[in-house]
Amino acid sequence: MFKNVIVRVPASSISEGITSASLGKPIYEKALMQHENYVSALTKTGVEVTVLEPKEAFPDSCFVEDVALCTSKCAIITRPGAETRQKEVQLADMKEALGKFYEHIEQIEAPGTVEAGDIMMVGDHFYIGESARTNKEGANQMIAILEKYGLSGSIVTLEKVLHLKTGLAYLENNNLLVAGEFIDDPEFAKFNKIVVPEDEAYGANCIWVNDYVLVPEGYPTVQKKIEELGYKVLVVDTSEFRKIDGGLSCLSLRF
Ligand code: GLY
Repeated sequence: MFKNVIVRVPASSISEGITSASLGKPIYEKALMQHENYVSALTKTGVEVTVLEPKEAFPDSCFVEDVALCTSKCAIITRPGAETRQKEVQLADMKEALGKFYEHIEQIEAPGTVEAGDIMMVGDHFYIGESARTNKEGANQMIAILEKYGLSGSIVTLEKVLHLKTGLAYLENNNLLVAGEFIDDPEFAKFNKIVVPEDEAYGANCIWVNDYVLVPEGYPTVQKKIEELGYKVLVVDTSEFRKIDGGLSCLSLRF
């Protein structure tokens, strides 16, 4: 069960966020509204939500998931691979928020890079995507830290997607939502795989929070498959975050 969530309100500079999509620029007012709805959905799951202030200097800073990995034993501050995001980890309010919840806070050091959107937690094990944003050095540092706390990690090499959780979502109870390059990856053969159709690939970025699964709006096949598994589904529109390669998981730290 998760007790706590940290989010950051989008800044108006969100229009300058990094993107590989050609969906136009996010509309700020709409992004703010969608973010409020996201926080409301999280609140329904019973977690306590810490809401941090927007930071104009960092267009992607609402994607707080990338700046820290929050485990049951420690928090690990990352070192984002995207240069414009590297200073997000120095934001004092995030450090302060993590400090309220964690006695042990570790840090990824140069030349390692890690964005925690590349990390999927399955119990005490953490799958770490080696990607354009997370390098092998960073992944190995992360594994060493996890092992220090009795946790474990392993590396998955990404071919196409931005982050590991762009194409995977662990829904607990051995249920794994899988899309694209991960569908036939032997690494995930042991899971009960819920396959996301290609035309709903973005819908793979769902989040399990307690008895609920948050699902992005507009992905009916994904939603139906999750409902059929018996989960309570909360649908949240993330269209403005999708325009800059963001989704449900990137918008929060859950622990
Ligand atoms: N725009 C989200 C990211 O690229 O990190």
